[in-house]
Amino acid sequence: MTTLPDEVLKDHLRHYAAFAEADRTRILAAVIKNYGRSVDHSDLDRDTQWRAAVQDLTTSPLTADLVESTARLLSNRATGPRPKFRPQSLLADIGAAVQQLPLSAEHQLGLALDMHEQGFAPVLTYAFNQWVTAGVEAKTVGRCLAELTVMGLYRLAEAHEATTDAALFGSGSAADVIRTGSRVRKHPRNYAAREVLLPLEFANYRLLAQTRLHDRIPANADFQPTTKTLYHDYVPGRDGVAILKSGFLPNRQQRIDLRRLHSALLRELLEYGLVLDLHPGNFVWDDHGDRWVLVDIGPIPVIGSDEYFIEDFSAYYTNTWLNRLTRERVEPIRSIDYSIEFPLDATAKSWPGAW
Ligand SMILES: Nc1ncnc2c1ncn2[C@@H]1O[C@H](COP(=O)(O)OP(=O)(O)O)[C@@H](O)[C@H]1O
Ligand SMILES: [Mg+2]
Repeated sequence: MTTLPDEVLKDHLRHYAAFAEADRTRILAAVIKNYGRSVDHSDLDRDTQWRAAVQDLTTSPLTADLVESTARLLSNRATGPRPKFRPQSLLADIGAAVQQLPLSAEHQLGLALDMHEQGFAPVLTYAFNQWVTAGVEAKTVGRCLAELTVMGLYRLAEAHEATTDAALFGSGSAADVIRTGSRVRKHPRNYAAREVLLPLEFANYRLLAQTRLHDRIPANADFQPTTKTLYHDYVPGRDGVAILKSGFLPNRQQRIDLRRLHSALLRELLEYGLVLDLHPGNFVWDDHGDRWVLVDIGPIPVIGSDEYFIEDFSAYYTNTWLNRLTRERVEPIRSIDYSIEFPLDATAKSWPGAW
């Protein structure tokens, strides 16, 4: 398994207290904004209140005071004892706290505020346009939500804008992806990429390079531990999204090869417990090798991963490839809305760079 062990996940959640105030503020603001997305427009009073609050966060300078008081106002927490998060059983405590509350923006935001105030990263239970607290065991629920926070919300911590380097290509959502000759490097742009996503992507390389998928991932991967930069060989060709955008559908040879790769991927990923982002932008059609190469083997959270693990190839192909461009249009924000203070930055778009 190259997923995060419980202890590491807990350390990351506790590390929240060490972030700069501006980062914690931005994360809490994103949590408010995303809960606002769950409020039904036909619920007029609530909808107006949430819209006004979110509008305020988007137009005024984000200060800790503004964001915390907004969260307090919207969540309207009951007075009385706050939930306790014990370091030893942090994940189970989070899951239990979530399970005890109704799935409403107000209640769930109240919990996020409790966590924030106690120095733990908040969890977000509304993402992918739905409530994402499915699960029976408290610890499993807590684990999945914690993973969504450190792989998702932590993109807002220690973040810098995308480089304007001319060699920048692709549309990385967490890393700058830069090509130099026959090599590509992924350079982290925030805490999530630096401490979680790129180290795990390299771990995935070491694992998959030993399997039958070794020639379906870029060759010669390397990782620079001080800068946390990932390197691999450039694969000459176009990725699946570029092909779809050019107005063409994958040809017969490409479809046959994709079917073969899809079935091999499902088998290996299940065997090793990996959760990868199998969206068309991550597959490059290798013009020399006449086959698909999965150029992005970075992990994604279990929450929201179901569409990539559709066992039936036709269903996967229709849903994830053929319907891709239409779905991007009707549902511009898919996973989490990150557009807090970086309105023009790539982090604002959760679709193109993938997840
Ligand atoms: N080794 C490679 N060869 C060819 N293209 C690549 C390679 N690595 C990345 N790309 C291109 O850059 C894009 C972004 O890289 P990716 O690793 O998917 O970043 P992210 O993790 O941010 O999604 C890909 O969708 C692909 O088009
Ligand atoms: Mg990608």
